[in-house]
Amino acid sequence: MVCLGNICRSPLAEGILQNKLKEKYLNIQVESAGTENYHVGQNPDNRAIAIGKKYGIDISKHIGTQFKPNLYDKYDIIYVMDSTIYNEIISQARNNEDKKKVEYILNVVEKGKNKPVPDPYYGGNEGFELVYKLLDEACEIIVEYLSKNKY
Ligand code: 4NP
Repeated sequence: MVCLGNICRSPLAEGILQNKLKEKYLNIQVESAGTENYHVGQNPDNRAIAIGKKYGIDISKHIGTQFKPNLYDKYDIIYVMDSTIYNEIISQARNNEDKKKVEYILNVVEKGKNKPVPDPYYGGNEGFELVYKLLDEACEIIVEYLSKNKY
């Protein structure tokens, strides 16, 4: 799961997906990162922690990291939050195999639309509610798919 700062959207996406995988006893590794290094080593934004807590997801101990191309070796899919992130991650791809791993997370809901999970950083709490709702819906579909495909 990749966003810009790794303090709002992607740690929430990681926490939500991990929670759903655990509920289905699916042993699949998930982590999150940001394209930028502004918040490396920091815990998530308090508003992201609060929205997670409201829905039973604890992301308070997550530590911000920056995306590095070696993550292409570690993961089958790299979900990105918007077109800025998509372009940056694609620019770090080393080959076509890497590029094929990158997908807009909301394309699992509406295929091929490349819709963004809006950056909530400069807005109010309603932005975090929307981010949570969008990510919860997407992660539900991801887990349904993974459980049907017997990982
Ligand atoms: P995120 O949100 O990419 O969802 O973690 C942001 C966090 C920090 C900044 C921008 C977006 N920033 O400009 O510091």
